Amino acid sequence: MNDFDFKHNNEDVETFLCIEAIKLKYGYNFSEYSRAHIKRRIKGRLVKSGLNNILELTHRLIEDEAFFRDVLLDFSINVTEMFRDPSFFKYLRENIIPILQSYPKINIWHAGCSSGEEVYSMAILLKECGLYDRCQIYATDFNQKIIEKAKDGIYSLEAIREYTKNYILAGGTRSFSDYYFAKYDNAILDLELKKRITFAEHNLVTDGSFGEMHLIICRNVLIYFNRTLQNRVNRLFLDSLIKGGYLCLGSKESLVYSDVFEKFDTVSEEFKLYRKHLKA
Ligand SMILES: C[S@@+](CC[C@H](N)C(=O)[O-])C[C@H]1O[C@@H](n2cnc3c(N)ncnc32)[C@H](O)[C@@H]1O
Repeated sequence: MNDFDFKHNNEDVETFLCIEAIKLKYGYNFSEYSRAHIKRRIKGRLVKSGLNNILELTHRLIEDEAFFRDVLLDFSINVTEMFRDPSFFKYLRENIIPILQSYPKINIWHAGCSSGEEVYSMAILLKECGLYDRCQIYATDFNQKIIEKAKDGIYSLEAIREYTKNYILAGGTRSFSDYYFAKYDNAILDLELKKRITFAEHNLVTDGSFGEMHLIICRNVLIYFNRTLQNRVNRLFLDSLIKGGYLCLGSKESLVYSDVFEKFDTVSEEFKLYRKHLKA
């Protein structure tokens, strides 16, 4: 929003003030997130909390950090699954992993890993392809609460039933139950799967690049960002990849319209898989 543009309605103005308050008080910058997304999440929180309007909500989150953490969870949308879009994982297994085999050491970054399901899926895939012990995997998210959950690696048995179906469709070669043990209503993932994973807080809006990545997976994150921020993050990925490194985006995301598109080859637009030019 710029100072000389008077065309905004009250809701736009209040949303802007809310985002500014969060930035000033807590250092999280949502100004480049899709405004439609932020407005939807604020509306949802207003209903849940019984507050009357965005200004009341803004005041409450300034005063009450625990309330802010709930709003942060609303904004971040942590929906995820193990082997989400199984055909994507099958494609990785059949087409990309064999190429990664040629590297003595492989660095992988899951940006926006949420509660960990995606990175544990990768760990399983790498194990079955005999590559896991050569990998260093970084799993990052800007939401501290969700990173703690990811580290636990505990999921409901109900969810695990769905993940088992995904695992089979993704070309899994063992019994999925080999990777967890059941306790009450939960499945606790095998500790071995965590051995090569480092979980860390990292904010794609404000933090820097990770060096020398062979593979970056950032799926279903950029969809919440506006074009400017998407470009910034794609540039961050370009800088973090080795020449010939791979970038995977979510099914509704694409590199096609980004500023860095010409620095990549499209490996599969269907699976949103791109490879940094060897000469980039
Ligand atoms: C919908 S989940 C996607 C999880 C997983 N990648 C998948 O596709 O199943 C989006 C994740 O992006 C994270 N996220 C949102 N903004 C972020 C930012 N600025 N930096 C890092 N992570 C962010 C959220 O916290 C959330 O966990």
